[in-house]
Amino acid sequence: MTATKGLEGVVAVTSGISSIIDGVLTYRGINIDSLAEHASFEEVLYLLWHGELPNRAQLDDLRTQLIENADIPAEMVTQIKSYPKSANPMAVLRSLVSALALYDDEAEDLSRDANFRKALRVTAKMPTLVTAFNHYRHGREYVKPKAGYTFAQNFLYMLNGQEPSSTAVEAIDKALVLHADHELNASTFASRVTTATLSDLYSAITTAIGTLKGPLHGGANEQVMVLLEEIGSIDRAEEVIKAKLAAKEKIMGFGHRVYKDGDPRAKHLQKMSKQLAELTENPTWYDMSTKVEQIVTGEKGLKPNVDFYSASVYTYLGIERDLFTPIFAISRVSGWTAHVLEQYDNNRLIRPRAEYVGHGNRPYVPLNERP
Ligand code: ACO
Repeated sequence: MTATKGLEGVVAVTSGISSIIDGVLTYRGINIDSLAEHASFEEVLYLLWHGELPNRAQLDDLRTQLIENADIPAEMVTQIKSYPKSANPMAVLRSLVSALALYDDEAEDLSRDANFRKALRVTAKMPTLVTAFNHYRHGREYVKPKAGYTFAQNFLYMLNGQEPSSTAVEAIDKALVLHADHELNASTFASRVTTATLSDLYSAITTAIGTLKGPLHGGANEQVMVLLEEIGSIDRAEEVIKAKLAAKEKIMGFGHRVYKDGDPRAKHLQKMSKQLAELTENPTWYDMSTKVEQIVTGEKGLKPNVDFYSASVYTYLGIERDLFTPIFAISRVSGWTAHVLEQYDNNRLIRPRAEYVGHGNRPYVPLNERP
């Protein structure tokens, strides 16, 4: 038995949800470029869950249900208020989604209908959990979801406590569409492994959040901003990046296991970042990002991934750095839940093998004879 490090190239499941073929990403067969251009996050959510785009009535119904299910139990608010204000928001989200199961009577019901209802509930509540913790750590009361709002609109409303601008809603909606699903990425794989033991949906999503948090996966968007802040001004970009590359440090937001010729989502985020830079008359982050791209691509041939330009987009929208990965999770829960439902439908325990590289057979040494 020989291990494939990082499972590179290993095909672990069959799935009809999203595909990456010849560098082209589709959700249910529809190119991400068309979805980014035309679809709302709720349309994508419906598409991922049901396999088809919704008609007007189905879309309106989903929007209504998302808002109706968005508020969180009072016990959860109390729990949030017991957390350290300095806690990492992804660690908080991981804990809160796990705790949501305790207040859901259907948590242990693995029937398909119950799983769909839970998928809706957890997706609807994630923006509320993230924004409620954010208000608490800043000493404010949380903002309740507002009926009649779209998912993106409501998230921004709950985050800032005021009517969001159409520019901000459009940008967040597009970012949510672009982050919704991505074939068998690490967090989705992790969620399917948990599901395959016939554990519950909340356990699977909790697993996925913990996996997304890492800087080699979803946590990279926050690290991109750390890098841009470290660089500070465009004239320092070359010196900082070259020093990092010489020290064999990874440049966050670049490279990808699957895409070798560029991530198709990155161009949409770059365009958004440019538009927001112009609108806010603050070109710093966008210009610095393009300069970093030029250097990293020139030096290493590496292209930006989805995380690179999302960092400047969220910064232009006035969003705090440690909320970037929670926003990723707010979107990706759509893909995770679609994969969880698909895994339950055609389940087999996921249990690979390990190539053993430890000691050979050795005798047991009694305690008093050990050095
Ligand atoms: N900066 C510098 N060098 C890099 C980078 C990078 N961002 N990415 C890959 N490389 C180099 C590696 O050092 C390695 O070089 P070597 O062969 O000389 O040792 C080579 O390219 C292959 O890299 P691996 O890490 O083996 O590639 P892998 O497929 O395992 O990793 C990953 C992919 C994790 C995305 C990697 O490119 C990386 O760490 N990028 C930075 C973190 C990041 O942006 N993650 C987000 C990915 S997208 C997402 O999850 C949403």
